[in-house]
Formats: sequence, structure tokens, C-alpha cells
Amino acid sequence: MNKTAQVSDPILQDYDVLSIRKDFPILETEARGKPLVYLDNAATGQKPNAVIDATSRYYAGQNANVHRGIHYLSEVATEHFDAAREKVQKFINAALTHEIIFTSGNTEAINLVANSYGRTFIGEGDEIIISTMEHHSNIVPWQMLCEEKGAVLKVIPVDDNGELVMEEYAKLLGPKTKFVSIVYVSNALGTINPVKKIIEMAHAIDVPVLLDSAQAAPHMPVDVQALDCDFLTIAPHKMCGPTGIGVLYGKTEHLEAMPPYKGGGDMIASVTFEKTTYNALPFKFEAGTPNIAGAIGLGAAVDYLTGVGMERIAAYEAHLTAYGLQILDGIEGLTMIGRPRERAGTLSFVMDSAHPHDIGQILDDQGIAIRAGHHCTQPLMQRFGIPASARASVGLYNTCEELDALGHALQKVNEVFG
Ligand SMILES: Cc1ncc(COP(=O)(O)O)c(C=O)c1O
Repeated sequence: MNKTAQVSDPILQDYDVLSIRKDFPILETEARGKPLVYLDNAATGQKPNAVIDATSRYYAGQNANVHRGIHYLSEVATEHFDAAREKVQKFINAALTHEIIFTSGNTEAINLVANSYGRTFIGEGDEIIISTMEHHSNIVPWQMLCEEKGAVLKVIPVDDNGELVMEEYAKLLGPKTKFVSIVYVSNALGTINPVKKIIEMAHAIDVPVLLDSAQAAPHMPVDVQALDCDFLTIAPHKMCGPTGIGVLYGKTEHLEAMPPYKGGGDMIASVTFEKTTYNALPFKFEAGTPNIAGAIGLGAAVDYLTGVGMERIAAYEAHLTAYGLQILDGIEGLTMIGRPRERAGTLSFVMDSAHPHDIGQILDDQGIAIRAGHHCTQPLMQRFGIPASARASVGLYNTCEELDALGHALQKVNEVFG
């Protein structure tokens, strides 16, 4: 029996990672003549056959535009496209299907809110709260809005453990606060933020909250009603789904009050040169032909993840993360960036012996894929006084043996550069 299979948590007794791995054809790849060890899941996740097949089934046998045609194929395509929206709704427990807006990605979803909600309800002197650990996609759209409107960006600091300083958040909240936009799980540190508390505190003064759940939705159950968030964004390509599709969840009351973000086909009710009226939700925010194959692939990804079970994935990845931390702590001259108490499986580190890019290079020679760089979190890197870090991030198909391989390769880094 291998280490990965020796898991004591009862929820994981029948978690068969070897059989899960068989669902992901890319995991058979040889990289640089070695079996691929894919530990770059925070950048993007690999796709199971179920997703690959659903996407090619659409192109091979269902391809037509949705919501427009009166012919057979269009009906079939529309049925699958609409079903995907319902699957996402259930996956995050949204109250209503029309609260799920398909976008081109997580970034686009945040931009939609900053542009539509932000430009309508945020004005001069108003304050928007984000945090030091945001991905650039949850910084720049708000900065652009602030520049345009004369609003002010306020930033919750991060402590040495990589946790938000909640006392400072409490101090930032005030009569000028008009919006809070926070990452659920940090892509650079793995920190799971106390988002329920963050939302409660903002709601106490009637301020809406957006959660960037790009790194949460692939790894743990997400329940928008239990969280009571106002908006939530998802990056499907990080959760077994295709690239080029994203999800914005919004409460109906907000989505109804917001103007369209982009104009074009499908988002209108009627058009004359004098006046255009807009379509109902969710179509008001989905101008033009949507990413139909992407949505159908996302639906298949949701089915796949639900089939394995998000609770079980979270428990399994917690087991992998604890094991990975133990391995990294045993490497001489390695320093973890952040040690949050609540964490997901993203492990960021630096080494005395080598620059993160050199670490990435040596690991790549061993067939091990990690990420080295600023991870689109330059202000966070500045906070920790580093230009970059090496980042290993696990997914539902990784094994303890792969983390052993990571450990051996990091020892090699010390040998080569030490
Ligand atoms: C926390 C977080 N937010 C936003 C994004 C942006 O997602 P995308 O580039 O898929 O739009 C990422 C991607 O790495 C992320 O990790």
C-alpha cells in the first residue's frame, strides 16, 4: 500500500486517487523523460476525460448557436448550455439560475462588477476595500474605477503568517466604504480568509462584498447563500473545466439594479435607433455568442467534482498539504512564505541557495511542474520583501509520492547551487 492510500480520515477511506488519476489523460505524460509531476494547479488544473469528451461531443454532434435557432441542433445546444448554468447554480448553492452569469473568465467577472456596479454606485471620495493579498485582477479593475471616479482604494494589511489583520479591516470599514472585494483563498499563500466574518462586518454597515473564489471553488465546497456574499467569481479552468469561460454569481437585487456591461446581441429586449431595452437576467450581462463549448465543459467539470465530492476533495487536499509542508520544512535553507492557520494546498517558498526561477528550472529537469514568479501578486511579494517565490500547488489527483519527488528535487537544488 502506498503512502497516499494510508489515510486515516474516515471521509477518505474510499478516496481512490489512483483511479481518479486515470480520469486525467495528461497525467500519463512524460516530461523531460520523467513521469510528469504536475504541481501547478493554482495556475490551471488538468481536465478529466468527462470534460474533454463533453466539449468534443458538443463540437462533433451538437454545434449550433444557442437561444436563437428554431432548428433541432440549436435546441440541443441550448438545452446543454442551460443545463450547465443550472449545474453551476447547484454547485455554489445559488438561489436562482439567473444569478449565474457566464463570462470569459474570473478576471472578466470582477471587471464586470467594477464597471457596472462600480461606475453606477461608487463616486468621488467613496472607499473600496481590498487586501494586500489580492491577485492583480482584484486590484487593477478597482484602481481604474478609483481613477475614473475619484474614489479611494483602502487595503487590509497582511501579517507575517500571511493572514489578514482583521483589526485593521474593522478600522477601515466606515461611512465612506461602498464596496469590499476580497480573495477567498490566496493564490500565492494558500491562506483561507475568514470570509464569513468579513461579509458579516461589511453587511453590518450595508456594504456589499465580492469574493474572488478562483482558488476556493476547485478545492472546497462553496455555498453563496451560507456565506451571504453579494458577488462571487469562479475560474473554471482551475477546477477541471475549460479555459475561456468564467462565472459571476450575483444576488438578484444587485444584478437587477446594475446596467449592462457590454452591448450587443442577446443582451437586448428590443433595439431601435432611438432606444434599446435590455434583456432579462442573466442575458443582460451576456452580450454576443457565449462560450457554448466552455459552458458545457464547465457543466461536465461540475458533475465530475460533485461525483468525487467537494468535502472529500477538501479533506484529501488537506492531507496532501500537511504532508507537503512536512517535506518542505525538512529542506535546508527553505523558508515558507506565510504560515496561515487555515490554508489550502498552495505552498509558496524561497530558498537560500537559489532564485525561484532556478528552482523552477531544476524541478522542470526532473519533470516537476511548479510556478516561479510573483504570481500576479506584486504588492504581496513587496509585503514579504521578495521579488518572487516558488509555488507548488496540489489538486485532487496529486499524491504523497509526488510530494516526495518534489522534496528530492529540492535537495538537488541545494546540491547544485549550495
Ligand atoms: C485568486 C485569483 N484571482 C483571480 C485570478 C484570475 O483568473 P483568470 O486569469 O482565470 O481570469 C486568479 C488566477 O490565477 C487567481 O488565482
